[in-house]
Amino acid sequence: MALRPILIIPEPLLRKASEPVTGIDADLRRLVDDMFETMYEAPGIGLAAIQIGVPRRVVTIDVARQEEPKAPQVFINPEITWASPEMSVYEEGCLSIPQYYEEVERPARVRVRYLDVDGKTQEIEAEGLLATCLQHEIDHLDGRLFIDHLSKLKRDRVMKKFSKVARRDGAA
Ligand code: NI
Repeated sequence: MALRPILIIPEPLLRKASEPVTGIDADLRRLVDDMFETMYEAPGIGLAAIQIGVPRRVVTIDVARQEEPKAPQVFINPEITWASPEMSVYEEGCLSIPQYYEEVERPARVRVRYLDVDGKTQEIEAEGLLATCLQHEIDHLDGRLFIDHLSKLKRDRVMKKFSKVARRDGAA
């Protein structure tokens, strides 16, 4: 296992759509291990492979509370097959947009079809934090970020702030 650096906006790779996984091999299992290690270390509750620079449709999630045992979940080629008409609002953050949190409204429940690490097709119906987290991470696979769900004014302000930081760090 290895810790991998997490890409931060305005890194252009974060806007790239990821490619479906075509076979589950040792490389993919290593990627999943690295993603969990990186996600837990951050710490975060969800990570998409593109956030460590790998444009493949792989998501890791663990929404267990701190006092609960770890509950790692892997979603390969996840697809939303149904979304509830009811919406819910969560304050979201993203490891690629550190220290920034905003409320986002999304469908309260979703059904997601995906492959597990054994390559078997699975489908789950999620609600609450897991539903939000799945939608947030699946967005990453299509090059979308949670700030895309905010007003243009807010999004522009965040992008500007992080672009300034990137320029400053680049010059240092
Ligand atoms: Ni994110």
